[in-house]
Amino acid sequence: MTTSLQIRHRRLRKNARVRDLVAETTVHRQDLVVPLFVSGQGENQQDILSMPGYFRYTPDALLNRIEGYMDQGLTRFILFAKVEESQKDNTGAGALDPHGLFPQTIARIKSAFPDCVLFTDVALDPYSSFGHDGLVLGQEIVNDATVDVLAKMAVIHAQAGADFVAPSDMMDGRVYGIRCALDEAGYLNTGILAYSAKYASSFYGPFRDALDSAPGFGDKSTYQMDYRNAREAVKETLTDMEEGADMVMIKPALAYLDIIHRIREVTSLPVAAYQVSGEYSMIKAAAQKGWIDEEQAIRETLTAIKRAGADIIISYFAEQALPWLS
Ligand code: PBG
Repeated sequence: MTTSLQIRHRRLRKNARVRDLVAETTVHRQDLVVPLFVSGQGENQQDILSMPGYFRYTPDALLNRIEGYMDQGLTRFILFAKVEESQKDNTGAGALDPHGLFPQTIARIKSAFPDCVLFTDVALDPYSSFGHDGLVLGQEIVNDATVDVLAKMAVIHAQAGADFVAPSDMMDGRVYGIRCALDEAGYLNTGILAYSAKYASSFYGPFRDALDSAPGFGDKSTYQMDYRNAREAVKETLTDMEEGADMVMIKPALAYLDIIHRIREVTSLPVAAYQVSGEYSMIKAAAQKGWIDEEQAIRETLTAIKRAGADIIISYFAEQALPWLS
């Protein structure tokens, strides 16, 4: 030991060039996946009240929008559909119509942009008269019967051209059910991005506005995870890996950075994290009030998600983040 300070951490922070040189984490454009909302009705571009600056589009308008993203080097997308009230029931029939809005939009996207990577949401909530991710019997969200429907839904998405189906329902055994159905139908190269650790979260509120898919009774806590649990996220992930997942996901992101980190340590699969609608809206709302700097908050949160261990980040901020990405 010496009497004066020999170790000075601030030498590595002295200016931007030095800081950039020693930075441990960089978010790249190719890490990002853009969520897309398609709607069969209404204006070309539709406001989502709780997501200022984010929109739902009719299929034609969505194709235009995707062209804009592709031109900027954003080439990975995850698609969600807003379904008309008349398409909703308690059988998932709407999700199994090969000519429905969702598969048609998948096909149009992949034929217009064969080079994009398209993930598609597999869950019943947009098609459910109860707003639940599965079939409802009494007060129960039934597991196995739901998995059968999800497996068929996944095949329809694969047939339409999806690169990866992304089951977000949190039923048990759905990754296995979907993998078997895809293989049987010949879609050996359609992958599965499993929402492995999806928590029952308040941060999905704005998304449910976007798709008009809020649960009609109860909440989703009999299938989505309890936020008090972390080991259970590892258990869920290991099961999805055994069942054949190609990638795993943690959702939401910011309140679950510890989960991202833990899962990164137990899997060699690519790890995705979803910066969800409520995370977007919180930043937007605070920025609108002038209480935080929006750009700084976007950079900081995306970097934190990457630093925690995510390889892939699904974010409504993807386009806004572009100017400062490498
Ligand atoms: C539904 C689904 C949800 C999200 C993605 N898929 C909402 C929910 O589980 O209620 C949330 C995405 C977001 O909030 O941005 N299966």
